[in-house]
Amino acid sequence: MLELNAVNSGYGETQVLYGMNVTAQSGRVLAILGRNGAGKSTTLKTIMGLLPTKSGTITFDGAPIAKRPFDIAKSGIAYVPETRDIFPSLSVRENLEIASKRFGDGAWTIERVIDLFPRLGERLDNGGMQLSGGEQQMLAIARALLMNPRLLVLDEPTEGLAPIIVKLIHDKLQDLRREGLSMVLVEQNFGFATSLADDVVVVGKGQVVWSGSADEIRADHETQHKWLGV
Ligand SMILES: Nc1ncnc2c1ncn2[C@@H]1O[C@H](COP(=O)(O)OP(=O)(O)OP(=O)(O)O)[C@@H](O)[C@H]1O
Ligand SMILES: [Mg+2]
Repeated sequence: MLELNAVNSGYGETQVLYGMNVTAQSGRVLAILGRNGAGKSTTLKTIMGLLPTKSGTITFDGAPIAKRPFDIAKSGIAYVPETRDIFPSLSVRENLEIASKRFGDGAWTIERVIDLFPRLGERLDNGGMQLSGGEQQMLAIARALLMNPRLLVLDEPTEGLAPIIVKLIHDKLQDLRREGLSMVLVEQNFGFATSLADDVVVVGKGQVVWSGSADEIRADHETQHKWLGV
């Protein structure tokens, strides 16, 4: 459904991705793993049109992906960045309303995301700034779902969260996976990522250095040690 073919990208003069090849298949979860600075977030920012593709191609459903972030989102890819990017000065309710108005109708409604994350229902009148890290992450995921995406792209959803919240986020993403939502997941948490993923790529120095199934990498201690420091 999403395919990066020989993609070079980076920040201004600084090249970070060198011939990135990644395929995410419909109805599956792809985990992108790799050490700090390997180029995982850069890969996602390039997919989302936040960084220009210097060469190579990105296709979504067989056609070249849109250029502007807004059009990419509109085509059905929702992105939860590392920074979560909720509106801190707005209430939870306002954050959800803005997201649900953005791309009109679909299966996801404010009621349904509150069903998924009841905690948000209890915090509707709280400001974004008053939320815990876990609640902010729930809100960021809820906002992404309200865009009714066909592909959900998540950058380190567990970063900085307490183990009990990591487990909650894990279980909710597992529910979404069972419903057939396609996902691309960047993670440092190896156990979290490999228990959610069907397919795995390992990135090192801006390239894919390993690819296979989640089962394969769980059994491959050499790759874990060499490229992930697990
Ligand atoms: N805004 C930027 N300007 C210049 N270089 C950057 C910028 N952001 C990241 N880089 C560089 O790009 C490389 C890859 O960074 P990236 O954020 O993609 O890594 P990552 O795999 O997501 O790592 P982490 O696990 O720490 O989030 C790093 O060397 C980093 O220093
Ligand atoms: Mg990153």
